Amino acid sequence: MKRAIVYYSLSGNTKEAAEKLAALLQAELIRVETARPMPDSFKSQILKGGFQAAFGIKPRITGLAVRPEEYDELILGTPIWAGLCAAPMNTVLAAKGIAEKVTAVFTLSGGGDNDKCLDALRKKLPNLKHTAALADRKYGKAEENEEKISAFAEEIRNGERP
Ligand SMILES: Cc1cc2nc3c(=O)[nH]c(=O)nc-3n(C[C@H](O)[C@H](O)[C@H](O)COP(=O)(O)O)c2cc1C
Repeated sequence: MKRAIVYYSLSGNTKEAAEKLAALLQAELIRVETARPMPDSFKSQILKGGFQAAFGIKPRITGLAVRPEEYDELILGTPIWAGLCAAPMNTVLAAKGIAEKVTAVFTLSGGGDNDKCLDALRKKLPNLKHTAALADRKYGKAEENEEKISAFAEEIRNGERP
């Protein structure tokens, strides 16, 4: 089974989770970045990123040199922005052949509310079977991340929900 994890991470949480998952699944890692860097200050990030996410903006990205036909499955990793997936994921999902290959998504959030993003993604991803909602390392709930990532990997390996 050839798998790749396509992820975006602004402050490292999604990156860390993606790396752990990749090790468990022997999956390739594909990190996308915005072509124009995000601002440095958190306040400006919230303004710019929140606006982009809320309005479904597709910022130009780099790093997405993925040929979906080369993989059996793609796994997406995204932070939550304004209750939705981070705007660069809109660009990823608009690329030809990607949405159909996605079988699993994991999200990283501050408040732990990942449901709205996952509900929106379910409408775009016809083959989505597995999801995991993880917490930013700044929050206590992040203690559960490790266990959730292991369970998520196991579920993906088994190919169906336990
Ligand atoms: C632009 C922006 C918007 C965000 N919006 C939310 C939100 O609506 N709900 C939430 O729980 N966390 C929100 N967060 C926090 C991130 O989802 C959280 O810090 C996540 O772990 C970041 O992942 P990263 O380190 O991989 O970038 C937001 C962060 C940014 C930068």
